Amino acid sequence: MRSDGDAVTTDQVTAKVLASLSPDCDPRVRELSEAIIRHLHALVVEVGLTVEEWRGAIDFLTRTGAMCTDDRQEFMLLSDVLGISMLVDALNHPGGNGTTEHTVIGPFYTAAPTRAIGSDISGDSVGMPLLFTGIVTNESGERLSGAVVDVWQSDANGFYDVQLGPERNLRARFTTGADGRISFWSVVPSSYPIPNDGPVGDLLVAQGRHPYRPAHVHFRIDANGYEELITHVFISGDKYLDSDVVFGTKPSLIRAPEYLAPGIAPDGRQVTEAWAQLSYDFVLLALD
Ligand code: BEZ
Ligand code: FE
Repeated sequence: MRSDGDAVTTDQVTAKVLASLSPDCDPRVRELSEAIIRHLHALVVEVGLTVEEWRGAIDFLTRTGAMCTDDRQEFMLLSDVLGISMLVDALNHPGGNGTTEHTVIGPFYTAAPTRAIGSDISGDSVGMPLLFTGIVTNESGERLSGAVVDVWQSDANGFYDVQLGPERNLRARFTTGADGRISFWSVVPSSYPIPNDGPVGDLLVAQGRHPYRPAHVHFRIDANGYEELITHVFISGDKYLDSDVVFGTKPSLIRAPEYLAPGIAPDGRQVTEAWAQLSYDFVLLALD
């Protein structure tokens, strides 16, 4: 029979689990496993987790997994709204070296149609015409030829093509020429709610948070000999810049579009309605 003196303490449970790791296991697996065990056990003790809450947490993770498909990554979304994605980014791309800052990739990246520089990628999308122009360089200011630039963005109602139907609008892949330039016509994007009809949406409601991201255009830039850049250009003045639900906003990535009256654009296009121009120059980090 057990006496009170034999009661197992929380510290003993943690120590037992840590001791169960084989001395032969891969050192990185060991380091990660030890940290996960220590931090999760400490969390349970710190908050005094009840059995009901523990069951609720398992149910939440089960629903998160069940929501995942080839087109929907609910765990990634969970990582995004908890700031984990931006923590990993801050650790791996600390910036401060004059190169363009990174931000989250998000769930709406998919293979894009290859388009010629200067193309109109808006299709039948709604929104004010937007001419985007930029240059891809290295830290020395040399223009990069052959850089592959993927672009994707929402329309003026805050929807990505993949949410609307089979048309691949507001999404394209460009390759820079010797001048390192990229330009395309699209529409001014809008702020939008992240997919919030699943467990991550429920979590945001429980936490009293809104689901919105400020308006932005996504870029993924790959050039030989350089670190891949995954970033956005944010539209200045957006009301969600200071409360991005995924914490992806960085001041260096915000630009003000120039809003223009109908007329002739710099590329010679006759624009018959009010339009906007947005520019950003991207600086890639050379690999050692
Ligand atoms: C996006 O910008 O497309 C996005 C990023 C993180 C979560 C949801 C959407
Ligand atoms: Fe986005």
